Amino acid sequence: MDSFEYRDNRLHCENVLLSKVAEEFGTPTYVYSRDAIELAYLAYANALQGRDDMVCFAIKANSNLAVLNILARLGAGFDVVSQGELQRVLKSGGSADRVVFSGVSKQSSEIRYALKAGIHCFNIESAAELERINTVAGQLAMVAPISFRVNPNVDAGTHPYISTGLKENKFGIAIEDAPRLYQHAASLRHVNIIGMDCHIGSQLTEIAPFMDAMDKLLALIDVLDTQGISIKHLDLGGGLGVCYTDEVPPTPQQYIDAVLDKIGDREIKLIFEPGRSIVANAGVLLTEVEYLKHNESKNFAIVDAAMNDMLRPALYSAYLDILPLQISDSQECQEYDVVGPVCETGDFLGKDRQLNIAAGDLLAVCSAGAYGFTMSSNYNTRTRAAEVMVDDNQSYQIRARETFDDLIKGEKILPQN
Ligand code: LLP
Repeated sequence: MDSFEYRDNRLHCENVLLSKVAEEFGTPTYVYSRDAIELAYLAYANALQGRDDMVCFAIKANSNLAVLNILARLGAGFDVVSQGELQRVLKSGGSADRVVFSGVSKQSSEIRYALKAGIHCFNIESAAELERINTVAGQLAMVAPISFRVNPNVDAGTHPYISTGLKENKFGIAIEDAPRLYQHAASLRHVNIIGMDCHIGSQLTEIAPFMDAMDKLLALIDVLDTQGISIKHLDLGGGLGVCYTDEVPPTPQQYIDAVLDKIGDREIKLIFEPGRSIVANAGVLLTEVEYLKHNESKNFAIVDAAMNDMLRPALYSAYLDILPLQISDSQECQEYDVVGPVCETGDFLGKDRQLNIAAGDLLAVCSAGAYGFTMSSNYNTRTRAAEVMVDDNQSYQIRARETFDDLIKGEKILPQN
């Protein structure tokens, strides 16, 4: 996390002291580095230089308008999975013709909205969805650009909850069914086949599963070609992992070099849908220690952020580094479980962490830029955190902390009778 570093024992984001951010905006607060986001995106874009490819940020990882706007300004495309996500792209200055629409269940109204907006492609995940998209496009007298998400049945070697490319997963169409479905799609009047896609999982730390998937998809593209169906783009999804602790995932450059190597001199446009690898290490979650509590066998640091703010440790047993904003001179660490105020045993941000802390100290939960705020909830009637973007020596609040009134908006009690 180069954009986050200690200077004089105090943790900074770019040229901003993080304790100042906490002071100004309170805690819990997500803080992102503009520089880190831009560098991560450019690592993909630069590796593809000179080619007519698209890097479509998977906005489920972080959908704040300011984040999307920064990426849109660099020319990024976007991968969306709902009408709401598409509306966010348009609102933040992204262009519809650089959007791919993924997800297993697109509603008719969402399909209509996306068609009218003029998106680049629908990534279709079932035969039923193909029929629906053809019907909705027909009603609008339009032709929908489509791709099938093919499930190549490869093991991504990642956590089962974020592995999506195996036969038993709900995602995509079976590779064996693909030729039949492509043939059928070719016979429909209101869809236009332009691509093929896959997404085999998330937090992959090896290139091999991507290559296995590519081999299978390229072979399928060749089969379709002999049947008169030409595939113009290959979308490899997202999935490139990041370093949370000691993982050493390939860099975007290494990954793309391997992809381009395999593509050779084929004339095909490439699409990537990275989420985590653009934003995970561009963000931290600031939190304050409320209480220290010592049980017979455990020490707890009870902090003001909880599983509703950052769900990943509770849901996937994910490990996120937890750092003090100020390193103290004394070396006397104790082992703590860092837990939140939510009434669940699963409400922890970190277990067995060596920390030298007191109540009132500030901590940073690291690598929190992806699947942090976007997976947050209001469980226990907790207002969701504020979000701040740091740009060099400036910090901008890019989302105000929710208020109680925001929370109960739309709720009503029954009339007296
Ligand atoms: N494209 C599709 C179709 C996807 O389903 C996903 C992620 C991506 C792209 C982006 O993948 P990435 O580059 O971020 O790995 N909440 C989990 C991760 C769920 C990923 C879901 N799909 C977590 O916090 O680890």
